[in-house]
Amino acid sequence: MELTRRTLLQAGALLAAAAPAARPAPSDRIAVGMIGTGARGQELMDALQQHPQAEIVGLVDAYKGRLDRALSRVKGGPARAKIYPTHRELLAEKSIDAVVVAIPDHLHAPVVLDALRAGKDVYCEKPLTYTPAEGLEIIAAAGKRIVQVGSQGVSSDLETKAKKLIRAGRLGRITMIHAAINRNTASGAWIYPIPPDASPETVNWAMFQGAASRRPFSLERFFRWRCYQEYSGGISTDLFVHLCTAIHFLMDAKMPARAMAMGELYRWKESRDVPDTLNALLEYPEGFTVNLSSSFNNELNAEAALQVLGTEGSLTIGGDGLVFYPDNAVEDNRWIVDAWAQPLEDAYYKDPKVIATEVEPAKRPRKAPEHFKDEGPEPTVAHFGHFFDSVRSREAYWENEVAGHHAAACAHMINLSALERRLVEWDFQNDNIRT
Ligand SMILES: NC(=O)c1ccc[n+]([C@@H]2O[C@H](COP(=O)([O-])OP(=O)(O)OC[C@H]3O[C@@H](n4cnc5c(N)ncnc54)[C@H](O)[C@@H]3O)[C@@H](O)[C@H]2O)c1
Repeated sequence: MELTRRTLLQAGALLAAAAPAARPAPSDRIAVGMIGTGARGQELMDALQQHPQAEIVGLVDAYKGRLDRALSRVKGGPARAKIYPTHRELLAEKSIDAVVVAIPDHLHAPVVLDALRAGKDVYCEKPLTYTPAEGLEIIAAAGKRIVQVGSQGVSSDLETKAKKLIRAGRLGRITMIHAAINRNTASGAWIYPIPPDASPETVNWAMFQGAASRRPFSLERFFRWRCYQEYSGGISTDLFVHLCTAIHFLMDAKMPARAMAMGELYRWKESRDVPDTLNALLEYPEGFTVNLSSSFNNELNAEAALQVLGTEGSLTIGGDGLVFYPDNAVEDNRWIVDAWAQPLEDAYYKDPKVIATEVEPAKRPRKAPEHFKDEGPEPTVAHFGHFFDSVRSREAYWENEVAGHHAAACAHMINLSALERRLVEWDFQNDNIRT
């Protein structure tokens, strides 16, 4: 998935590179600072630079190799962007309008809060927070600043079409949603290769640690931070957060009232302290339940398969794109009536009510599934389109700090439930986990 997305972005970047990179007029220009230029940060650079009004003028990262590569990605040439030693110096630069935050999860909230206090608009990668309390702090600090969170699926053509089908009532009453993300590779389980030139000379360990507990220099922790609870919430905050964002967007839902989860570490024990297997149930007051699961020990449904199940039909979003399956359910009591006395069975099938509800519907052709194509644009490019529109109009897009707080808080509820082996409730009044 990552490769496909990057290839698409690169194709776009190549097309764009064919034309001379004209600078936007100063009044239209949005000067962007990149805080974090790792794997995702560099994908984001390629995506955001497809918007001609955006210009990357500053970069910060904690590893030299990534900064060098990121600088080579700056449209118009490396001379157009300046490297800053830490995010604080970048934020002090008055000419920067907006920042993109793509750093490990435990650092999101402190950096986003610094950016808001410095008067910048913020695009922050998911999950917005590492704890639910941070979400409330960000909401309080946002004021008139624009905050957009980077679960880009909500800007995709497929989720937009899915939302229309749901709103139009095509699925009838929706009471259940299933979603699974399964992987069966070391890279899928976040055991990424470590660049051979990484060392205490090229990696700024103190910048990475932030407020996390002090530990000796570790390249495993630095490059595979998703595997450790000190920097990440594992499967829940890395993967489920995308699913929760999608569910809230599609269903116009706010938060689950209750969550229950079980997490286990069965296989990748040497590399992590987060589960490699997670099952979660969420119950929404809007009248539906959600069943999320993820295994890193099998790859059935290797791409996220979201299934929305309604009384009139279902839709799935995943490897096959978006598919709507009309429900073909027909009343059928044959096996029950077959055990009645023969005259009673004969009479049953002569009853006009039974003919109308069982006999005639069984003869009708089954309604076929409808397939919807992804007609683009690429979701991250589209998501930045919403962000830059918001920076101009000062109207936030749907995935603002509140949506980001809620999606991340679902992931935190799931982790707390798995950790403490108990049901976790949401306190709607205080917009936080019930204590
Ligand atoms: N939306 C998506 O589909 C998607 C996909 C992948 C990653 N992400 C998110 O993007 C974020 C980054 O993930 P990644 O895969 O790029 O990780 P990564 O490890 O590849 O990159 C993180 C970068 O942050 C840098 N860094 C660490 N501390 C820093 C600091 N204090 N200041 C500046 N830079 C610092 C590191 O040197 C590294 O280059 C995460 O929050 C992740 O959840 C989102």
